[in-house]
Amino acid sequence: MRLLSRPTVGDNDTVITKYPLALQTPPTSIHIRSVRATDTDRLRANCWPNRTFLTIYNLVTRTIRNAADGRGMGLVVVGEDDVPLAYGQYTLWPTCAEISDLVVAEPLRGQGVGTALIQMLIKRARANGAAAFEIGVAMDNPRAAALYRRLGFEDSHTVMMDLERGKEKILFLRLETSGKK
Ligand SMILES: CC(C)(COP(=O)(O)OP(=O)(O)OC[C@H]1O[C@@H](n2cnc3c(N)ncnc32)[C@H](O)[C@@H]1OP(=O)(O)O)[C@@H](O)C(=O)NCCC(=O)NCCS
Repeated sequence: MRLLSRPTVGDNDTVITKYPLALQTPPTSIHIRSVRATDTDRLRANCWPNRTFLTIYNLVTRTIRNAADGRGMGLVVVGEDDVPLAYGQYTLWPTCAEISDLVVAEPLRGQGVGTALIQMLIKRARANGAAAFEIGVAMDNPRAAALYRRLGFEDSHTVMMDLERGKEKILFLRLETSGKK
């Protein structure tokens, strides 16, 4: 399982102090495109081995319908042969764009793929009019929460939700972009 090329350190060198990492342009070495229904099999194999084909197919096709209506978008990071290795989506709500269902194939974690995917989702959502972003994370996933804080998200509120494991407390983190280019 390989990316098309290794993410290059320095692609984000135009860092302006205090400018949130989430609002920076993702490295061009990480290839990202819109999700397709035909990605379902590979997403299951590479990213969500514990989910059924139908669960993933329903998620992907719902997101594709949302994209057609201008209400969101699903993106995949692809490697060699256009194989999807990571997934993430955003949904436009009246108060924010919600980023969700983020996953990176296990062998590729910790290499900046998740960061690049979030940066691209935010870039696309801003182009679609979003000015604020939220991401929900389970309380037992402090590493993901740490990543979102590093990107510039701030703890906002908690909600009791069922994300496939029964009701649990979900922390929502928020990023406001108004006034930031
Ligand atoms: C969370 C996730 C999408 C991050 O993607 P990633 O490609 O590993 O993220 P990056 O490489 O850009 O950043 C890595 C950072 O994410 C954090 N992180 C979160 N989960 C991690 C994991 N399982 N492995 C490595 N890093 C993880 C670390 O704090 C790390 O910070 P560091 O670079 O300072 O060490 C990915 O780890 C994943 O798919 N996890 C399983 C599914 C999941 O938890 N999804 C999020 C639900 S809210």
